[in-house]
Formats: sequence, structure tokens, C-alpha cells
Amino acid sequence: MPRNRRDRFYRKAKEEGYRSRAAYKLKQINEKFEIIRKKDTVVDLGAAPGGWLQVAYELSGGRVVGVDLLRIKDIECVDTIKGDIRLDETVEKIRELIGENGADAVICDAAPNLSGNWSYDHARSIDLATSALGCALKILKLGGVFAVKVFQGDMFPGFLDKARQNFVKVQAFSPEASRKQSAEIYVIGRGLLSGNVRVGEEYNVTIESIGESGDGIAKINDMVVFVKGAKKGESVNIRIRDVKPRFAFGDIIDQPDERL
Ligand SMILES: C[S@@+](CC[C@H](N)C(=O)[O-])C[C@H]1O[C@@H](n2cnc3c(N)ncnc32)[C@H](O)[C@@H]1O
Repeated sequence: MPRNRRDRFYRKAKEEGYRSRAAYKLKQINEKFEIIRKKDTVVDLGAAPGGWLQVAYELSGGRVVGVDLLRIKDIECVDTIKGDIRLDETVEKIRELIGENGADAVICDAAPNLSGNWSYDHARSIDLATSALGCALKILKLGGVFAVKVFQGDMFPGFLDKARQNFVKVQAFSPEASRKQSAEIYVIGRGLLSGNVRVGEEYNVTIESIGESGDGIAKINDMVVFVKGAKKGESVNIRIRDVKPRFAFGDIIDQPDERL
């Protein structure tokens, strides 16, 4: 191993029995964002040799599943799959292991083999992170958490936008354990949205009932939408103002003028 890779976190991993120095990146991400909690079901995409899996199991103690193109040597209480995260058949295998309830957290430290050509490596990293996002959307519970590694570059803002369309809150974070010269950054998405409605969309809805707060309640594709100032039985045009994992808020956009 080259001398410059034998840094503080490399030595610490050796001493503390972790399979990779990357283990400390997940610890630092978790210290800041608490993405893994006790009893969580966690899926780790691109998990070999298994440092993140060791940390994920320490944090959750629940079901932990690791996926990689390479075989992952056994880790007690952790299930592993040898497969490509870009393929539907791998997603199916994950689903079989985690069951219908889905995962609380999907974490991804996958990286393409680096060519040394910066823009090519950046594009492949974005491609892989986009596949990981697609996989996460298929296996996460509503409200679930997603954390993924991306190499920064001109396609990074576009990737952040995609993540923002699917999670309540999306932040980028560089853990101290990432090497100073590295272009890697972790994107953390919290609160998976249902995908049924999006901020800014407009709908015509019928107010089915009135909630405790006095807001009208309508449903769009089984998603509850609270509409301020609407009356039961009214049909109103609304624009979605805010979306939470299980409900949304809409504003009336063209209330009929009652004087007419
Ligand atoms: C940096 S390592 C992950 C280290 C891991 N977090 C740990 O702590 O041990 C990146 C891994 O991503 C895997 N990988 C890259 N592309 C993949 C893909 N399409 N499907 C599954 N795994 C992939 C690689 O095989 C490699 O093992």
C-alpha cells in the first residue's frame, strides 16, 4: 500500500478491526445526520469489503444487507448479495431479503473504477449515484433516508435537483475522513416523499372533510392534502405549496368570486 494511504483513519481502521478506513466516513455522516437508528433495516449499495456494513450493524442491530459486484466476505448478522446495483434483478434480490416493509436507510459508497480522466470519472460517478437513487426509490419506506457518494463536477447540481424532487430535505456533506484531495462528497436525502404529488403542481380537488386545524382535506392519488380556507364539499383548484412524506399542503389558486 502506498505510504500516503496509511493515514490516521487507515491505521485506526486496522487497530479497531474495520475492513476499510471508509468506516469512519459513515460514522461521521451518522454523527451529523443520524441516518441509521436502532433496529433500522439498512441496505448498503457498493459495500465491499464491508467497513460500512460493520458500522451499519453496530448502529442498527437490525437487518443489514450489503450489495457489491464483488463477493463480500461474511460478516455476522449481515446478509450479502453479489450483484450490480444498476440491474432490476439485484433490486428484486434486495426486496426478497428486506421484505415488503422496505428499508429505513439506503446508503451507497459505490465508486466506478477510476480512469484518471476527471470528467469521464465524474460522469460515471453521477451515473452510478443516479442508479443508486433509482434503487433507493424502489426499496425505501416512505420517510426513509438515502446517503450516496458522488464525485463533484458540473453534473452535481443536476443530481442534487433529482434528489430534491424525492426527499423532504437534501444536504451535501464532506466527512473529515474523506481525503483532503478527494472530489467526493456525500448527498444525504431525508424523508422520502411518496412521489404522488410535487411542489408547484396544480390540481382540481374536492374537499372531503375538515381537519382538526380547520383546513379542508382532499386526496390526490391517496395522498392527503390540507387546503386552508376550503369548505367541505367544495371543488377547488389548488397549487401544492409543501410536501411531507405522507401528506401535502395546497393553496387555493382561483377561488370563485362569491359576489358574482
Ligand atoms: C469504495 S468501495 C466501498 C467501500 C465500503 N463502503 C466499505 O466501507 O468497505 C466501492 C465499491 O463499489 C462497488 N461497485 C461499483 N460499481 C458497482 C455496481 N454497479 N454495483 C455494485 N457495486 C458496485 C465496487 O465493487 C467497490 O467494492
